[in-house]
Amino acid sequence: MERGSKKGIRRRCLGAALALCLCVAFFLVCCDKEAKEEEKKAVRIGVSLYRGDDTFINNIRTELEREAKLYEQELGIKIQLDIMDAKGSQNTQNIQIERFLSLGCDVLCVNPVDRTNASVIIDMAMQEEVPVIFFNRQPVEEDMDRWSDLYYLGVQAKESAVLQGSMVVDLYQEHPEELDRNQDGVVSYVLLEGENSHQDALIRTEWSVQTLKDKGVPIEKLTGGIANWERSQASALMEQWLNEYPNQIELVISNNDDMALGALDAMERAGIQTIQVVGIDGTTSGLEAVESGRMLGTVSSDKEQYAKAMLEIALHRVLGRELSEDIELEDGKYYQCPQKIVKKID
Ligand code: BGC
Repeated sequence: MERGSKKGIRRRCLGAALALCLCVAFFLVCCDKEAKEEEKKAVRIGVSLYRGDDTFINNIRTELEREAKLYEQELGIKIQLDIMDAKGSQNTQNIQIERFLSLGCDVLCVNPVDRTNASVIIDMAMQEEVPVIFFNRQPVEEDMDRWSDLYYLGVQAKESAVLQGSMVVDLYQEHPEELDRNQDGVVSYVLLEGENSHQDALIRTEWSVQTLKDKGVPIEKLTGGIANWERSQASALMEQWLNEYPNQIELVISNNDDMALGALDAMERAGIQTIQVVGIDGTTSGLEAVESGRMLGTVSSDKEQYAKAMLEIALHRVLGRELSEDIELEDGKYYQCPQKIVKKID
């Protein structure tokens, strides 16, 4: 009886100890989980821009800052954006990436200066296991295939060009006299190109012109030149062309809005209003020029969606959130932002 009750007491003690152990283990698991959730309440994103003074990139930056605030409110987390300007130097950008990594950024958004030389950035990020979302300037495929945590976000260049060309086709079909001003049966154009190493410049140039040819618009190229996406360089080129080809230019095809605005600046200085100008981007200043009737039209990318996609991918990687349904990644890593034609509705 006595032995039996001692056994019983021992068993009860063992049971109590086991229960206590389980409670402690459960408590520790809960604490750990809570700590992790606590950690995830702040996300730090390092953003490096190839040039902070680029109009389109600036528009994207504004949208990114705006969207980050909306996500903060929606998810109840802190999103810290550290934004740096590489000022056109790959070396400076590499140093910025190193700094972001040493600061403990959870994810990097990189607008590479030299898209053919992204390997240094990739090496550093891989070593620290920090995902990279490249944007606007697409690294070569060989680099993109080096690691599963690399993404690219941009606007499809061929689509931009085909839409740009189709604006001119529509005008030619409806009012040929507004393009072929001198009625000689051909539309004489000049072409303003972006940086020659940029995938968008090369593809846009090819497909804008090809679209006009495919749709039967009779065209003749007077001249063209590289203005590196810049308004002032385009303005200088256009001024020169207006002198070289007096009363001959009927259309300006520009790889982006800023260079289109540069051409318009030169036309304004020369007191010319009869040349049609088309751009790409839908920057704030580009859209104003369309609205005021100075520019025939532009192909506007959805900047809000651009910024949203960047944050969606970043938060997906850092917090493990599901990507929203409208963000479909091609090959699991490429996202193409939607775009549309914007013309003045008169
Ligand atoms: C945009 C340009 C911009 C360039 C910068 C292009 O996609 O159309 O406006 O200057 O990207 O990389």
